[in-house]
Amino acid sequence: MNKEAFGKYFTGIYQDGMIMLSIGLGHDLGLFKVLCEATKPISLEEVAKTLDLKERYTQEWLSTMVAAGIILQDRDSNLYTVPEDYKQTIMSNMGFAPILFTLGKRSDKVKECFKKDGPYGISYQDEEATGWFDWFDGYRSLMVEGAIDKEVLPLLTQQGVVPNLESGIKVLDVGCGSGNFTNLLAERFPKSTFTGLDYSEVAIEKANKIKAKKGLTNITFTTGDAHNLTEDWTESFDFVFVYDVLHDLPDPHKALTQIYKVLKKGARFSLIEIGFHSNPLDNAGDKSAAMYYSASSFICLQSSMSAPPHIGYGACWGREKIEKALIDAQFQIEGSSPIIVMGTKTFFLCTK
Ligand SMILES: C[S@@+](CC[C@H](N)C(=O)[O-])C[C@H]1O[C@@H](n2cnc3c(N)ncnc32)[C@H](O)[C@@H]1O
Repeated sequence: MNKEAFGKYFTGIYQDGMIMLSIGLGHDLGLFKVLCEATKPISLEEVAKTLDLKERYTQEWLSTMVAAGIILQDRDSNLYTVPEDYKQTIMSNMGFAPILFTLGKRSDKVKECFKKDGPYGISYQDEEATGWFDWFDGYRSLMVEGAIDKEVLPLLTQQGVVPNLESGIKVLDVGCGSGNFTNLLAERFPKSTFTGLDYSEVAIEKANKIKAKKGLTNITFTTGDAHNLTEDWTESFDFVFVYDVLHDLPDPHKALTQIYKVLKKGARFSLIEIGFHSNPLDNAGDKSAAMYYSASSFICLQSSMSAPPHIGYGACWGREKIEKALIDAQFQIEGSSPIIVMGTKTFFLCTK
């Protein structure tokens, strides 16, 4: 990139960051919902009245979205519309944007963790994680169905796991968070029984709320540490599902030996992780990798550094290292060559 191009690129990042803040407002205040659900062009007054907002602020937000090319405004009528083709993208992705509000709150703590004599990291069990889980649950609830239908189930179908789920097996979700995946899988496969484990009480409370709302009886949520799964579970699960967790752990290798322990012989383990390369140089110039490294400094690396042995892989430990960790933990990887990568995720289906 020459000097001029780099200047444009660099200031563009600032512009996108500022616009993302307003996308977060649009999600939290319900503005996108009203605009996307409108069946005809809608006025500023109508939007503000529907949500009980001040017109002046609502206008500023609408102008931001019009300038950003996300919402259209008619010059004659002043009415606003979201193009049909944009609606699905907006509704399924806007939940990510409020992450900026959540992470902003922990930035002082994060800076302390960077310092040589500062704390090791921030665990998901820290008090402020309560707010983080509010954001996370909102975000996950918007994307979970798409992820199950477009990513998880096609892969599990391809590898022959779905018929087992349909006929009824025992499933464990390690690091289930607020249970968005586990609850949806339990709903889709009523003959199987599910256990969701997470070490955050806040997350388990949220998971139980979703379970109650859906009226599910084939799922149990429990608090526990992925590094020390109870001996009572030894060789008792037919399928272990782990989504977006391993890189958060202070010792993923120990967690893998625990997962191996609780699986029956010949049972399957599906691992879904962030899928960049392990060598940062191989991610150079990939803006989505940059986004994950950045989020990692605030969340994933913080969690994976927060307790001994502080291995600290962080979000982008990468598919090559993950593959090696699975082999070291004695798992047999199915279809490992080439490693399956979908978007920003990598999938491994393993057998004990
Ligand atoms: C990024 S979230 C993913 C949650 C869930 N799998 C999902 O994708 O919706 C990571 C989760 O790992 C959990 N976690 C972190 N360390 C853990 C540990 N040692 N034992 C169990 N869960 C842990 C966190 O509390 C958090 O809910």
